[in-house]
Amino acid sequence: MLALPALALTLLLTGCGKPDAGSPSGSPTEGGKKSGYVIGMSQCNLGEPWRVEMNAQIRAAAAKHPQLKVVFKDAQNDTLKQRAHVEEFVSAKVDLIIISPKEAQPLTEPVARAMDAGIPVIVLDRRLLGDKYTCFIGADNRKIGRAAGDWIVQKLGGKGKVVELKGLMTSTPGQDRNAGFREAIKGTGIEVIFEADMKWLEPDARKEMESALARFSKIDCVYAHNDPGAHGAWLAAKQAGREKEMLFVGIDALPHEGVAYVQQGILDASFQYPTGGAEAIDIALKILAGEQVPKEVTLGSRVFDKESVGQGGRELK
Ligand code: FRU
Repeated sequence: MLALPALALTLLLTGCGKPDAGSPSGSPTEGGKKSGYVIGMSQCNLGEPWRVEMNAQIRAAAAKHPQLKVVFKDAQNDTLKQRAHVEEFVSAKVDLIIISPKEAQPLTEPVARAMDAGIPVIVLDRRLLGDKYTCFIGADNRKIGRAAGDWIVQKLGGKGKVVELKGLMTSTPGQDRNAGFREAIKGTGIEVIFEADMKWLEPDARKEMESALARFSKIDCVYAHNDPGAHGAWLAAKQAGREKEMLFVGIDALPHEGVAYVQQGILDASFQYPTGGAEAIDIALKILAGEQVPKEVTLGSRVFDKESVGQGGRELK
């Protein structure tokens, strides 16, 4: 009889999400002891290479542990869809949820309900409100924003006109990358002459930059909260024949995206924002084994600019 709920669970998960390659090793319960675990991974979107990389890291790390089966769901940048995905994982009684939430406020309640149902939740990259989750994993966005600000102050000799293209401001990385940057430029001669929420999206960044270029005849630097945003701004400036007039700074530093842009001279700096995918599986294994885990795992970051890109970047202190 014990096998029945396990079978029902497998069918339900297979029916409503894209199952990961490979199947769980045997039934989740054997002789009263669990031998296989289902992890539900709720990804807010797969539009950016950074999120594709996060899922790939999770998939690769989980593949080393045959007792794990990861079910991936992609909310396609739709908050309501992501709420529904978390609810589906709870109904399916998965053993653990990993979530990278689109926005803080609307995803807080469904995660709290998962916790109430006894399902541990690992929150990746973007935060929720409050502390009703098991573990948060992510880099320090305020510190990265501050480092970007310090870098810009230094490169511009303490004075200049900056365009800030912000990430979705209902998500915590956008808020923190803005706050850290503003702290760093406070009291300097750096002036933000134009700011807009490009929602992490390259096409939106490009459009906003077209407006900035039309309004301002002198721009010294673009600070974008992610590399797709910085690249979108560069495309707009290039189309206007003005890309050489200013610096472009982004965040993420994926090897085949931001770092490559720095190597190609498209971006002047990119600050690494690790996805935490592999760490999420490490922490998940500990939670499933009944071990204590820290409430917060902070990942490091590196800056890639002309000087450091050849040596694999420079660590942020
Ligand atoms: C991808 C992304 C990254 C960014 C992160 C912030 O969707 O926009 O570029 O660093 O999300 O949560």
